Amino acid sequence: MDREVSQSEEMTERTFFMLKPDAVRRGLVEHILQRLDDASLRMVAKQQLVVNKAQSGALYTEHEGKPFYDSLLTYIHSGPVLVTVWEGSGAVALVRKLIGATNPTDAAPGTIRGDFGLAIDEDVVHGSDSVQSAEREIPIFFPGLD
Ligand code: CDP
Ligand code: MG
Repeated sequence: MDREVSQSEEMTERTFFMLKPDAVRRGLVEHILQRLDDASLRMVAKQQLVVNKAQSGALYTEHEGKPFYDSLLTYIHSGPVLVTVWEGSGAVALVRKLIGATNPTDAAPGTIRGDFGLAIDEDVVHGSDSVQSAEREIPIFFPGLD
């Protein structure tokens, strides 16, 4: 017999969320994680690491060849990051909303980039932009996650 599935259960998603080197350096980790926690998202994986070239190349493959690509990789490799996975109803879009616009100078107050971001090349966090991106990005950093 079919089990009844609630609407929120049906839309449960996972998203990849990374606190970039500037966030770790500036001691913003707890402040930023609290934002996602407050939005009723549940963290299912967390690890601090220095991103290697295979990982950054895979994460930012869509930006290869763009003018900011080399400086983006230098930034991402510049210190430890915190990589995390979060789960919840509509998690991908919700986290993007909490992050705010890519350029911190355009990001609304109350968003993570609006409150903590300094410039487009120091924008504090990364969040998957779609469910497909999340499914591609999570195994780059958490290959064994079920
Ligand atoms: O992270 P998001 O999806 O909002 O932005 P993106 O357009 O996918 O760009 C990826 C990352 O490249 C940004 O988070 C910035 O760190 C960096 N970037 C940059 O340094 N200069 C730009 N003009 C655009 C993006
Ligand atoms: Mg993006």
